[in-house]
Amino acid sequence: MEKDRPIGVIDSGVGGLTVLKWLQKKMPHEQFIFIGDTARTPYGDRAREEIQRFVKEMTDCLARRKIKELVVACNTITVLGLDTIRNGYDFDVIGMAKGASNIREVTHNNKVGFFATDFTVSTGAHKREIERLDPGVEVFGLGCPKLVPLIESEKFGRPEMQEAIKEYVDAMKVHGIDTLLLSCTHYPFLHDEIAAAFGPQVTVLDPAEMTTDEAIKHLQNKGLLKTEGEGSLEVCFTADLARCKRLASRMLDLAHARFHLIDLES
Ligand code: DGL
Repeated sequence: MEKDRPIGVIDSGVGGLTVLKWLQKKMPHEQFIFIGDTARTPYGDRAREEIQRFVKEMTDCLARRKIKELVVACNTITVLGLDTIRNGYDFDVIGMAKGASNIREVTHNNKVGFFATDFTVSTGAHKREIERLDPGVEVFGLGCPKLVPLIESEKFGRPEMQEAIKEYVDAMKVHGIDTLLLSCTHYPFLHDEIAAAFGPQVTVLDPAEMTTDEAIKHLQNKGLLKTEGEGSLEVCFTADLARCKRLASRMLDLAHARFHLIDLES
């Protein structure tokens, strides 16, 4: 496989851009092709089979572009199981880190919370992984179904957004956590608001950097990491390009980005 191939990145919508930000920052020489399925977001309250079908469509689209690695910038798809994606493709598939590996260094009272989609919470994947690595830690997951639609519809700073954040933060506060993981890639759009609502006694963590380190390690192991040359960025959405561009500008330097509207179903 050649180093010059692009890296594919997928999400159900604009959430994956929060991971793309880290990928671009730490791998400035790579070409990235991002697909956000904004026509069918959110995935978090859909059935397993339906999500799997959508993921296959995105993966096939990127396989045709001859990617060398796929980063699944979505917790919901990651916990659904990456094995169905790994079968039959010639590239490595990297899922979202669950944030378990550095929890011990951050928590002092061994009470950790995570915000995620209902689907992600229902699988128990994050709780299992954190408790397996550190059995002394108590883990509390909370589904926050209002947040993805509010972020996708750019309700930043609006009363309905503030109320939703307060509702979820208050529900989590009762557990007395001192560490919170943002286990849905959309939520870092609200990192500062969520951190402010918890106050300084809670550390809010975004596992995107850890995911990026994992993606780099896989490329290095295969001798596929580019360390010179200019990087590039192609951003594809399945609906509402103008809105998605505005959201992307909150996360990325768009100076050299190319945007496309694509149709995965045809
Ligand atoms: N951003 C996604 C995640 O990390 C999914 C949001 C959704 O489509 O429900 O889980």
